[in-house]
Amino acid sequence: MRGAPGASVRDQFDLTGRVAMITGGAGLLGVRHAEAIAEMGGIPVLVDLDGEGAQAWAAEIAAVYGVQAMGIQADITQPKMVSGVLARILDTFERVDILINNAAHNPKMEASGTVSAHWSRLEHFPLDIWNRDIAVGLTGAFLCSQIIGAEMARRGKGVILNIASDLGVIAPDQRVYRQPGLPDEEQPVKPVSYSVVKHGLIGLTRYLATYWADRGVRVNALSPGGVYTGQNEVFVQRLTNLIPLGRMAYEDEYKAAVVFLVSDASSYMTGANLVIDGGRTVW
Ligand SMILES: NC(=O)c1ccc[n+]([C@@H]2O[C@H](COP(=O)([O-])OP(=O)(O)OC[C@H]3O[C@@H](n4cnc5c(N)ncnc54)[C@H](O)[C@@H]3O)[C@@H](O)[C@H]2O)c1
Repeated sequence: MRGAPGASVRDQFDLTGRVAMITGGAGLLGVRHAEAIAEMGGIPVLVDLDGEGAQAWAAEIAAVYGVQAMGIQADITQPKMVSGVLARILDTFERVDILINNAAHNPKMEASGTVSAHWSRLEHFPLDIWNRDIAVGLTGAFLCSQIIGAEMARRGKGVILNIASDLGVIAPDQRVYRQPGLPDEEQPVKPVSYSVVKHGLIGLTRYLATYWADRGVRVNALSPGGVYTGQNEVFVQRLTNLIPLGRMAYEDEYKAAVVFLVSDASSYMTGANLVIDGGRTVW
């Protein structure tokens, strides 16, 4: 019996037939989460503002891994759209087992070149950007948890995984984003909204984990460190100096952890935050 005491370790990681909704499914890490689920036999449903991207990745993943997959265009800040996504998933697959709250605005303050980022500084941080970031990263995760999680609780089984960040555990070290030739008040910083969203997601994780503990719904967070995507060398050097393992992450390095957290392999784990950051938060 899958996941029962005595099940083989291999069976505990098996996701055959399990339906997983992934928000931000067309983004850099969303696609990797979807691939990981498909590789273990699950059915990824990629939900993204970018519907074409979500559908194209779903088609590719279905072809490569030989599983069903679906891409859906939706804005997760809109409750009606999230309810519509749930209805489509239930119409098509008759179940939803896994929710990965992955969508967020992840502003890249490490862009190469000297760009004034006056706007990003706390003193000037625009209220509309604050509201937009909170809407996607926190309100979107809340709405998806409320709507999809309630369906899981009704069925008595499900897993929610919130994608937080090492910056959900520590404050950003703004020195890594500094650019030459700019006065202090023009220097880019990682926006305050990012820290608040990521710390908030870890709080949401603990709240939901205890709220639904007796309904068969487990809720955990994963806090990844920064992924190397060709950022400029000075930034990479400064950041890697803060990381005991001495490098940024490869984009594939969170896949096994995602499978662990959404499968029966983590059956005795809820309310936890798994930090995978090359040791950055330990220093
Ligand atoms: N990339 C990293 O280095 C890194 C490190 C730590 C944590 N994270 C976290 O991992 C997650 C994924 O990051 P990423 O680098 O893949 O980001 P990304 O920007 O590549 O992808 C985010 C996706 O979310 C979608 N999205 C935005 N608003 C939406 C909305 N309202 N409704 C539906 N979809 C929406 C975007 O269209 C995009 O496809 C984020 O939560 C991010 O904070 C990333």
